Order: sequence, then C-alpha cells, then structure tokens
Amino acid sequence: MQDHILSIFQQRFSGQPLMIHAPGRINLIGEHTDYNKGFVLPAAIDKGIVFAIAANDQGNTCRMYAADLDEYYEFDLTNFKPLTRGWQNYLMGVVHEIQQLAYAPKGFDVVFGGNIPKGAGLSSSAALECGLAFGINEIFQLGIERFRLIQLSQLAEHNFVGVKCGIMDQFASMMGKHNHVIRLDCRSLDYVHVPLELNDYSLVLCDSDVSHDLADSEYNTRREECEAGIEIFRKSDPNIHSLRDVDLETLLGHQQSMPEVIFRRCRYVVAENNRVQEVCTALEKGNLERVGALLYQGHAGLQHDYEVSCKELDFLVDQTRTDDKILGARMMGGGFGGCTINLVKTDHIDTFIDQIGTAFQKKFGKTLKTYQVHPSAGVRII
Ligand code: GLA
Repeated sequence: MQDHILSIFQQRFSGQPLMIHAPGRINLIGEHTDYNKGFVLPAAIDKGIVFAIAANDQGNTCRMYAADLDEYYEFDLTNFKPLTRGWQNYLMGVVHEIQQLAYAPKGFDVVFGGNIPKGAGLSSSAALECGLAFGINEIFQLGIERFRLIQLSQLAEHNFVGVKCGIMDQFASMMGKHNHVIRLDCRSLDYVHVPLELNDYSLVLCDSDVSHDLADSEYNTRREECEAGIEIFRKSDPNIHSLRDVDLETLLGHQQSMPEVIFRRCRYVVAENNRVQEVCTALEKGNLERVGALLYQGHAGLQHDYEVSCKELDFLVDQTRTDDKILGARMMGGGFGGCTINLVKTDHIDTFIDQIGTAFQKKFGKTLKTYQVHPSAGVRII
C-alpha cells in the first residue's frame, strides 16, 4: 500500500513526500459516552490510510488526490469552504482548524489511500483527519502537540463535516498502542493503555453492510437529547455539567420529571459508563466471560434505550447468543449500521464466520463481510 501511494504521488507531483500511516479504530465498549464526558475503551487497528504529503511551490494551492476513488481536488488556502459532502471536507476542515489556531501552513500536495472498509464504522474519517493534521504539522514544522492535533481533528468534523462527534475516534487513531486498548476519561482526557490479553479468544467484526447515512442526523439528535437531560438534572443540582456527573440514584430520582425518551437516553449513558469501568476490571482479572457479558449488556442498551441499532446489527448479535464459543457481541460505533464486535474463541473463527455468513445471507440476501483486527499503534511516520 505504501509503495502504491508513493508511486502515485511521484507520478502526479514532485518532491520527496513524507509517508504517514493513520489507523482506523475499534471500540471495545463505551459507546456514545465520549461527548457525555464519560469513559471509552477504543483501540487503533491494523487497517488505515497511508498519506504521501509534501509542501509544494504552488503558493496557496493545496492539491489532494484520493487514490482509492480516483478523485482529485484542489483549493486555495485563502479562500475555501465546505462542500455539500465528500472526503474533501475532512481534509479542508483540518486545514481550517489549523488556521484557526493562527498557524499559516503553505500549499501542499497529498495523495492518500488505504484499507479501512468503507462505511463499516471503523472511523476512516478520523484517520483522514488525524493523518492530515499530523502530516501538515510535520512538513511545516508547526510544533503542534499531539493532543492539540486530536482536538483540532475533532473540530474539523464539527465545523466542516457537520457531525458533532466526541473525541474518541480521533484520540484512538492518534494514541493507539500495539496490543492495548485505551481507557480514556473524556472529561479530563487522562488515559491509560490497558493490555488486551485475550488468550485463546479474538476480536472479529461483522459488517452489517448498512450505510449509516442516517447516522449523522440521528447522532446530533442523541447529543441534543442528552443535553436536554442535563438541563433537567441541573435544575436540582447546578454542579451537574454532563451525564458523567449523574449516578444511577440521581437518575432514578428524576425519572418522573423528564420525558420518557430522555430518561432512557440518560439511563443508557450512565449504565454504559459503569460498564467501561467494569470491563477494565474484568480485563485486569482476565475474566473474559464477564467482558463478554458486558458487551451483550451494552448492545441491549444501545438497542432499546439509546435506539441507535438496526435490524441487521440486532440479527448479527442475536446469532451469537446460543454459541458457547462466543463470549459476547455488540454493535460498535455511532450506530444505524457499521459492524458488530464479537469476542470469539480463536479456533472457532472459521466455523463462526461460516455459520453467521450463511444465516445473514439467508435473512438479508447479502454476503457477510467479516474482519479480524488487532490493536495497533496510532498515527505515525512510515
Ligand atoms: C462516532 C463518533 C464518536 C463516538 C461514537 C459512539 O464514532 O465519532 O465520537 O461518539 O460514534 O460511541
């Protein structure tokens, strides 16, 4: 992949580019908790986007080529705005946010392409943002620290893409570590790398193949619903700033004073934060059965309380329930499509893929795509 991207760069542009790898991510547990200032447990994965990037001598012109799509776009650093949609927005958004911090990058050329399955909810968007932010910072020696790069990549998505995402995806893409998940406190941004010792189990992703177009608008709606919940809690306790500050008791105490939907959204978030902590404890103790059980609980919450699942995802999770070689499964990411994450006995993977693939084909008339992923290093020069 790296050679391929480099040779395309050399055909189209001149100069010796810097080569960068920016990974996608998985999330073991902690869904929709990041923008509620809670806990998440993601990891960067061994699938990502490779960038070839170099400063050019074209003044303020930035030239970008998406190798996998065979699409070219250029823009002027002094005059650009978001398009209706498209990959350009992730990249221009990053440039915009760097400028907002009062840095003045010059024109650059970039070619990128990778192997993150499209629409699978593995955060190719965060990889795009983080890879470019990292690359621009390197080639122009801007000296922006990694934490800042994470935050500006997130803002790019808010301001140029229009999704009010949390910080998890960008954080995971930047801070990943081989064989570790990242326990991130999204309020303080304190984090630790937790070893992911799965012994004779592995992580397998099943791709629902549902495009999560709906996700963007519903995602923002969920955020608003959580904010509506916080407003209600704040009336009785002004020290509550996010759902992170709400415990189960407080939540139940407010059940009658909030709309039923808002209550369920809040209930999910409060419980999910607890699950992240519990999964960490279970991982420490090597209790994978408990991890699996918590994954199933997480799915139930996403399905019934947060309502971001869909019939394909529910079907994929349900298929695993009677298989004693699978410890747990849940939908992963923002929802309305994307993948399920499954904790499967390694020597059972082939059988599992075969069986669930057959069932999925029968039910939805589509071939099921599955991926095996491994926690890997974050954005880096290659
Ligand atoms: C998307 C967002 C993340 C996070 C997840 C849900 O991936 O980009 O910030 O909120 O959904 O956990």
